[in-house]
Order: sequence, then structure tokens, then C-alpha cells
Amino acid sequence: MGEGRGSRQATAPLNVEFLHFMKTSIAILAAGLGTRMKSNLAKVLHRAGGFTLVEHAVRAARAVAEPSDIIAVIGHQADSVKNVLEPYGVGSALQTEQRGTGHALSMAQEALGNAGGRLVVLYGDVPLLSGETIRRLVSLYDESGKAGVVITCSLDDPTGYGRIVRAGDGTVAAIVEEKAASEEQRAIRQINSGIYCFNADLVWKHLAEIGTANPAGEYYLTDIVEILRKYGHGVVPMLIEDFSEILGINNRVELAQVDEILRKRKAHALMLEGVTIERPDTVVIDLDVRVGRDVVVESGVRLLGSTVIGEGSVIGAGSVLTNAVIGERVLIAPYTIVSDSEIGEDAHVGPFARLRQNNQVGANAHIGNFVELKETRMGKGAKANHLAYLGDSVIGTKTNIGAGTITCNYDGVNKHQTRIGEHAFIGSNSTLVAPIEIGDRAYVGAGSVLTKPVPAESLALGRAHQVVKAGWKPKAGTKKG
Ligand code: UD1
Ligand code: MG
Repeated sequence: MGEGRGSRQATAPLNVEFLHFMKTSIAILAAGLGTRMKSNLAKVLHRAGGFTLVEHAVRAARAVAEPSDIIAVIGHQADSVKNVLEPYGVGSALQTEQRGTGHALSMAQEALGNAGGRLVVLYGDVPLLSGETIRRLVSLYDESGKAGVVITCSLDDPTGYGRIVRAGDGTVAAIVEEKAASEEQRAIRQINSGIYCFNADLVWKHLAEIGTANPAGEYYLTDIVEILRKYGHGVVPMLIEDFSEILGINNRVELAQVDEILRKRKAHALMLEGVTIERPDTVVIDLDVRVGRDVVVESGVRLLGSTVIGEGSVIGAGSVLTNAVIGERVLIAPYTIVSDSEIGEDAHVGPFARLRQNNQVGANAHIGNFVELKETRMGKGAKANHLAYLGDSVIGTKTNIGAGTITCNYDGVNKHQTRIGEHAFIGSNSTLVAPIEIGDRAYVGAGSVLTKPVPAESLALGRAHQVVKAGWKPKAGTKKG
């Protein structure tokens, strides 16, 4: 797509030498509903580590293929799955009826069938498979000179999986599904992961020969092994040690287990990069979050989405940061919620502050407890230390916003801006009815309700005069105190 070589390498870890200039296309089978999730949401749209399951497959696939060579076979909630795939530039093929893995792959034939080279088959519900393992699969395929390689694992309890029946020469004679397996075959502990690298031309040529003569009446992709064999083409196994890599999610218990594994890995990686995490088991950090050295993440913190945290910052207990950009040495005190906002270096925010929707907090600014910010720019060193709502506002450098200040940004129909200059002082419990402008070094008396502009360097008082009646006593008969 007109990308330069350099930029492509920057975004995708493609190893050109290893690719031997042979094309790799990838089909991600992701059409199933996942009945055992007991969900209204298609299985591949459930999340682990902050990403939907199908995104994990796409991200791993990117280790060996360009987005234009990756096709997800989708069915249930196809439109929602498409929306998830769109930012990755990955295409899709619709399988309206789920008639088996062989049928699913054939849905991708139109999109991928002319590519030649290698064809890698992945599942949309196997989120721990690493790009590294897919690379190994592809290089073993290249070295083997065979028609295909299947990733396998040896399990103490192989129940539920297809079994790998080996031929005398070490190649795979057949993959037998449990339902169709003989007693003897069921005793085989080597299982089929369902993840393969094939000679694309051979698979596309013979895929239609897969039939439905099995107990489930489905088109089993696993039958391709025997079909290829019939034409003299061998498939070899690639045995892996770490079963979790090929673990398919079937229910929410497995989803939680995988999520835990991903979070743990992320926390460990960050700790090894110099981040202190208090009670790592209690924090939830999405995989793409970046955290600088000597950051302290207290217990119960959630760091989500594309959050980035600068060196030496502290993220207080129970805080939730979503797509936040936090500068260096920032103190986020406990129980602070920050979404889609930027906080400059040395700022203090919280405890119990809420920054939602596109705020920019300048360096050294202070946002204290029970302060809410929305679409607001706080200047450098500005302060709103207690109990305030600042919405659609621009607040200048070193301005002080008193406790209880409210910007009335909404008139019931439209939102309006509040602009406050530099070094201004807004007295406690002020009500600023927007649109309104308050100039530099202006002073607003406590308890004011302001509806008109306040010029620079002036004092505004918008409240009733205090009335004091000297010597006043309650009338006789009025109850005292
Ligand atoms: C499949 C393998 C089995 C292997 C197991 C590993 C076959 C026949 N069997 O069995 O040997 O041990 O995976 O987990 O291939 N899908 C579609 N459309 C369909 C059917 C499936 O897109 O019509 C997708 C599913 O959404 C899922 C993947 O393919 O992501 C695997 O399907 P699933 O039904 O789980 O296959 P298994 O019976 O587990
Ligand atoms: Mg399965």
C-alpha cells in the first residue's frame, strides 16, 4: 500500500531472509459461535490481555505475513468481527453455515487461492500462539520439503482432540478425530493443534476432495493429510513443549486462565524492564501499554489500551488509566480514573480524581480529590485541588481553581467553553456559566455566580451582599436556638 521498506519494517517484524521470497498466506478460522461460552457475543470477540481473541491470532500472524495476505473466515457476528479486523488491514471471508474446518478453509480459497507459496492455518480462538512459533512452523516447512507441517503436542489427557497417527517414516499417516477414533487410536497422546503450514497449491487443489463421511457429518480439514498422502505428499509433525501455546478457548474458565497468563507475562516483562509493581497479581495491564523505568505501580491498578507512562511516575492503588499519556515523575494518587487524556511531567492528580475524554493537564499542575475534568486544558502549574467540575475549559498557567468551582458548560442543548487566563484566582464555590471568559490575573470572590466576562486584573463578585442586623433578637414566642 505504498509503504516504504523502512516503515514496513518498523511496524512488522518481517524477516526477509527467512521468507526465502516465498509468499505466505494465512487463513484464520474464526466463524464458530463458541456455544460453551454461553454468551451473546461470538467467542472470538471475547477478550484476554485486553485484546479480542481474533486479534491475538492476527497479531501473531503478522510475524510472517502482510495484512493483505491474511484472511479471517468469519460467520457469527461477522460485522462486529470485521470491525475488529479493520484497523489491522486484514480481510475476511464469510462462512454463513459452520460445516467444519475443511469447509471453513475453502471459504478463504477465493481470496487466497491464487497466491501459491505457503498456506498457514490458524484458529481465531487460540490466543497464546506466539509469532515466534509460527516462524518456526514456517521454517520447518521450508526445511522439510514436505507438503505440510502440523503443530502437535503430547498430552497426558488427550481427550477431545484429534490424534496424530504416525506412519513408519515419522510422517503423519492420518489425523483422526476423537469421535471417529478406534480404541487404539484414542490411546495416542500426540494431539493435533489444528495449526498447520501447507503447500498452498496442493491444498487448494485437493481441498474439495474432503467429504463428510464422519460421525459429525462435517468437512474435516484433518482429512487433507490422508488425501495429500494418497497423491504421494507427506505431512510432518512439529512437536511443541508448551501446550498453552495451542490452548483453544472453549469456556470462560479457560478465557480467565489465558487472560491471567497474558497479564502475568506483561507484568513480568515490565518488572524486568525496571518497573516496580506492588502485588503483581492484582494489577491488570493490557499488552500494548508502555511503562517507563522506575515507575511504581501500586496494587489494584488497571493500565489499559494504549496507555503510556513516563519514567519515575507513581500510579496509586486502585487507579484505572485507559489510553492515558502520563509524563515523567507524575504522581497519580490512589483511586484516580483517567481516560483518553494527557498529563504533563511532575503533575499531581488525585486521589479520587476523574479525567475523562480528552484533557491535557500541564506540567506541575495539581488536580485534587473529587475533581472532574472533561475536554479541559489545565495550564502549567494550574491547580484545582478539591471538589470541582471543569468541562470544555481552558485554564491558564498557575491559575488557582477554588474548591467547589463548577463550569456550567451545558445549557440543556449545547456545550459552551470556559476560558480562564493565567495567574487567575477563582474563589471557592464559584459557578461559571459558559460561555464565559475570565482574564489573566483576575480574581473571583468566593460563592460568585458569573454570567458575564471578567476582564484581566479585575475583581468579580457575583453574590448577594451579606446583611448583618446588629442587636437583632428573635421575637418573643419564637423558639430559641
Ligand atoms: C479441531 C481439529 C482437531 C484438533 C482441534 C484443536 C478438525 C476436524 N479437528 O477440532 O483435530 O485437535 O481442532 O483444537 O479440524 N471453525 C470455523 N468454521 C467451521 C468450524 C470451525 O470457522 O465450520 C473454526 C472455529 O471457530 C475454531 C476452529 O475453526 O476457531 C476450530 O474449530 P472447532 O470446532 O473448535 O474444532 P475442533 O472440533 O476443536
Ligand atoms: Mg475446538
